[in-house]
Amino acid sequence: MHKRQKKTITWIALYFSMRIIRHFATFPPKLITPCILASSPPGGTILDPFAGAGTTGLVAEALGRNAILIELNPAYVAMAQQRIAEASRGNHA
Ligand SMILES: C[S@@+](CC[C@H](N)C(=O)[O-])C[C@H]1O[C@@H](n2cnc3c(N)ncnc32)[C@H](O)[C@@H]1O
Repeated sequence: MHKRQKKTITWIALYFSMRIIRHFATFPPKLITPCILASSPPGGTILDPFAGAGTTGLVAEALGRNAILIELNPAYVAMAQQRIAEASRGNHA
């Protein structure tokens, strides 16, 4: 894949991330999954001090871990809470 194509895909992903989740820099769940699996036992606790839209919390819950999330922006806190609540009801964001 050419560098220009990669840039285009990155911008498209960022655009949809902002349109759908409304946070500027959510990371894909697949990025955090190996970190959580490698750094905590089942039932363990994950700390994310820059939680954003709560992706770490979503993945932690899906992997049977607890999560402590810290986020500066109240709008993102609400977004994270909503995403995690929806995921708990089986409606993944
Ligand atoms: C790159 S985003 C994290 C995105 C997150 N990984 C996700 O998937 O949604 C970084 C977040 O850190 C938050 N932040 C920046 N400084 C902070 C601070 N001092 N304390 C808590 N949160 C902070 C920002 O508001 C921003 O939402």
